[in-house]
Amino acid sequence: MTIIAIDGPAASGKGTLARRLAAHYGFAYLDTGKLYRAVGLRVLRAGGDPEDEEAAEDAARALEPIELDDPALAGDEAAGAASRVAALPAVRAALTAFQRGFAASPPEGAEGAVLDGRDIGTVICPDAPAKLFVTADVEVRADRRHKELLNRGVASIYARVLADLKERDARDADRETAPMRPADDAHILDTSALDPDAAFEAALDLVEPAVQASRD
Ligand code: C5P
Repeated sequence: MTIIAIDGPAASGKGTLARRLAAHYGFAYLDTGKLYRAVGLRVLRAGGDPEDEEAAEDAARALEPIELDDPALAGDEAAGAASRVAALPAVRAALTAFQRGFAASPPEGAEGAVLDGRDIGTVICPDAPAKLFVTADVEVRADRRHKELLNRGVASIYARVLADLKERDARDADRETAPMRPADDAHILDTSALDPDAAFEAALDLVEPAVQASRD
């Protein structure tokens, strides 16, 4: 089993890279942010507070796979709630087994898995042979997210997007449990000056030796 662990802040390009790497190698892909988003949304929809550990843990334990297909997961409301429930140790613990199970036996008999998130290389799959920490300047990330929202026809204000990203980065990096940080053996890939194709080529160069070695 070959595992590629990809971590990094929001709008760094890690999701696109993870998806493309998975397609390139024929590996299964898990966007672990969706798990936290689905838990956050479940709590909000039940009228609860995403910082209420008991409610959030219950939501994490009750999560059904179908909820991961909800288009509302892509929204800012889900993102904000996700980063609140994600700071709670009981929520992280409740989601760990699913993520490790996916990595150990990916669906459809795939020979490997790509997981992206914040703590894949540090906590979920610390033995993954290939680890990337994908990052970009916060202004570049805000600009990308702002344009993506406008393209989707969503009203967006750049300054607001920038402030939201900074707030979420701080919450993810400063929490006590599984903070966002590169694993000691992760390759750092800064995509600030790279277009998606250049970022993919750079990512491939970094992971290819480890993927080949783990297949031999
Ligand atoms: O990656 P995405 O933006 O969808 O993640 C939403 C939020 O979920 C992040 O801001 C973070 O708080 C949390 N998350 C996490 N650990 C992961 C994936 C996401 O804490 N492995």
